[in-house]
Amino acid sequence: MRSSTPPKIGRMTEEDLHKLFWKYKSLLAEQERNEAFWAATNKNLRIAYEKLDQLAKELQETQEQLVRTERLAVLGQLAGGIGHELRNPLGAIKNAVYFLRMVLEAPEPDVRESLDILEKEIATSERIISSLLDFARPKSPIRQKVNVNEIIQEALSRTEIPDNVSVTSQPCEARQVILADPVQLCQVFMNLMLNAIQAMPQGGQLTTRCEVSDTGYVIVSLADTGVGMSKDDLVRLFEPLFTTKVKGIGLGLVVCKTFVEAHGGMIEVESEKGEGSTFKVRLPLKSE
Ligand SMILES: Nc1ncnc2c1ncn2[C@@H]1O[C@H](COP(=O)(O)OP(=O)(O)O)[C@@H](O)[C@H]1O
Ligand SMILES: [Mg+2]
Repeated sequence: MRSSTPPKIGRMTEEDLHKLFWKYKSLLAEQERNEAFWAATNKNLRIAYEKLDQLAKELQETQEQLVRTERLAVLGQLAGGIGHELRNPLGAIKNAVYFLRMVLEAPEPDVRESLDILEKEIATSERIISSLLDFARPKSPIRQKVNVNEIIQEALSRTEIPDNVSVTSQPCEARQVILADPVQLCQVFMNLMLNAIQAMPQGGQLTTRCEVSDTGYVIVSLADTGVGMSKDDLVRLFEPLFTTKVKGIGLGLVVCKTFVEAHGGMIEVESEKGEGSTFKVRLPLKSE
């Protein structure tokens, strides 16, 4: 009878060695199968994890988008309501200032100064109300043939340029005409010019340039030598209510983007902190 204890090496028969060899082979094969199984399982787990991770990210993005959309809707309603309600009383104040200027034939210097301040602040308030309303109820552009150079000059003439800011304009070589809404385009350039001037409190250079690209766009760029922007600011630039100014409301660029995109165009920004910024407005030469 064979004992169940392993045979001693010295007394191993050829048959024992044979069996041991096959046992070893089958164990090896089983180990390989196990390794393959775990490798496949690991791979599947990794794929499942990556998918889950992707889904979690998508879910978070959707959630954020939803919150943004809801916030924007509420913000739009609020902005529209406030803008609308403030327009009438501001109109009354403006008329009152006009009336005072008429009746006061030779006002004292301090009275005149107060009237000047009132007019300046009324203009600022009108600008804020316009951006509130443009943001809340953006109108579709009413297109007509417009000369881009003329609109840039119009925007420059309607922007208050401080003495310490010098302006250089490089017009388009051709008298470039496109189909666009002149009021909206002028508003876009004025908003960008105002930002450029506000970015140069110590003064500097504002350069406007108009060029035509081979790809069928008119590109209007506005470059300043102002404070520039950090990478974090650049990311948030077109977010409603994003402002770094004490008296800013953060709607100017949102309105610019809305208007330019409604024309089938886009706005690009390049900026270096402490060096200045360049905003490029691309408008298609041919509108669909
Ligand atoms: N030319 C510029 N140079 C530096 N920063 C700018 C410039 N234009 C815009 N910005 C930044 O973008 C922000 C948002 O601009 P905007 O939407 O016009 O709102 P607001 O002018 O009311 O702050 C500004 O507060 C500023 O931080
Ligand atoms: Mg602004």
